[in-house]
Amino acid sequence: MVAGSTGLFLLLLPFNVPNGPSLIEQNSCLNGNFYGNYRDGEVLRSASIVDASCINGLAGQSDLLVIPVNNRMEQLVWVEQEAVDASLKESSPETDEFGLFMNRLASSPYSRSQHHHQGILTSINQDSIVVHRGNNAALLSISRDMAFTLDTVLPRFWKYTSLPSSPVDYIPVPPSAIEPVKRILSKLEFDPIVARLTNSLSIPQMRNDVRFLTGEDGQSGIVSRHSFAKGSRTAAKWLKERFEETGATCHLKDFLPGFAPNVICRYKATLNTAETVLFSAHYDSRGSFGSTRAPGGDDDGSGITALLGIARAIKNNGVKFRANLELVAFAGEEQGLLGSKAYARELRAGNANIILMVQADMLAYHHPDEPAQLGLPNLIGTLEVAQLVANISALYSPELTVGLTPVCCSDHQSFHEQGFPSTQVFERAGPIIDPMYHNSRDLSDRIGYDLQQLKSIAKVQFATLLHASGFELQ
Ligand SMILES: *[C@@H]1O[C@H](CO)[C@@H](O)[C@H](O)[C@H]1NC(C)=O
Ligand SMILES: [Zn+2]
Repeated sequence: MVAGSTGLFLLLLPFNVPNGPSLIEQNSCLNGNFYGNYRDGEVLRSASIVDASCINGLAGQSDLLVIPVNNRMEQLVWVEQEAVDASLKESSPETDEFGLFMNRLASSPYSRSQHHHQGILTSINQDSIVVHRGNNAALLSISRDMAFTLDTVLPRFWKYTSLPSSPVDYIPVPPSAIEPVKRILSKLEFDPIVARLTNSLSIPQMRNDVRFLTGEDGQSGIVSRHSFAKGSRTAAKWLKERFEETGATCHLKDFLPGFAPNVICRYKATLNTAETVLFSAHYDSRGSFGSTRAPGGDDDGSGITALLGIARAIKNNGVKFRANLELVAFAGEEQGLLGSKAYARELRAGNANIILMVQADMLAYHHPDEPAQLGLPNLIGTLEVAQLVANISALYSPELTVGLTPVCCSDHQSFHEQGFPSTQVFERAGPIIDPMYHNSRDLSDRIGYDLQQLKSIAKVQFATLLHASGFELQ
């Protein structure tokens, strides 16, 4: 945090311009003091730390939240309620989720991991923790260690992100970066070879893969894929081996001590080009409060299984891509997109040419009374990428009903904030309705877990990457 009490203020201002210039871009005193975008229900807010003169210069701007920065503040953490269907909230026994959470925060010991020191939080004063309380979100000040384990005490429908310790660059997706996406969209037409390749995705194989990841197969020994759990390391090693069998070169890349690594796999382009298409999911998971079991069958075993299915189809059909393809399994998503933030920053620093990024997070749950669906994010992401995915879905998976979802901010946010054109694919054109969301019974063998829908969405991902990168069959 900012040292000392130096007349600085944390500003939270509205950022509701999907692709237009934001206040951040328009004001030089905000530019350079940016601390990220945070969501409160349908409102996205940009955080900045500025002095009084900057605030005076914003006179007339409505809906500004101004919070004096003081030297008691430690790690600032944004907690928010995820967009969940009303039917799920009714069935939740926790009525005052936030109040219960604050009690837990004040009373429960926690540990970062067995390999790291224990941090015991005692007698914390609730008033000093809550810096700001919004409608569906709050800003907390907590210890840095606790900021890595907050997911273990958060209510089920809440998630969190730590504010960075120093300002970060605000990098909007430049119009020039959207040109390739527009070009792909303008040339888009049904290709029977793409249809054949996407139809080759194997449901029995996907069932096997997800059952390994959840531990349901009794073979993997995985109990939890929480970023600090042993099972996440088992999963990372297994994923690397599986992707490498399909012709990729993979690296297990550490990003923070104690966390399982990102699994980064690359298929080299047949053309001499730096252009890269990146498809991802997160393999870490989160269980019920107080439980060590976190199978993550839907969140996000389904997204990982889709990537693996695509990799296996690449191998089985001898597909070679004209552009580079990266398939990435992130960790640290549940602790605030930490794995993807590290990787997106690294790619930006290396001036990577990512023409398209699509994150898959929760693809398999399908409410029995609803049609099979595909949801695209309405708040964070590049509209043109979402449009491309929607049009490709109509061509290759017409069985899916496509629409927007308020469910927000998986790992594509990390890429979008680094100026890369990105979107997410999700299982529903609406809020979360999976009753096992962030629950220790998020298994693949249950009512509503629909491998057919998983395949339909994986077909859309596969078709998108085939159209985006161009391909040859060998
Ligand atoms: C994409 O789909 C929309 C809606 O169906 C349609 O109006 C538009 O023409 C399509 N764009 C392209 C490039 O196919
Ligand atoms: Zn997820």
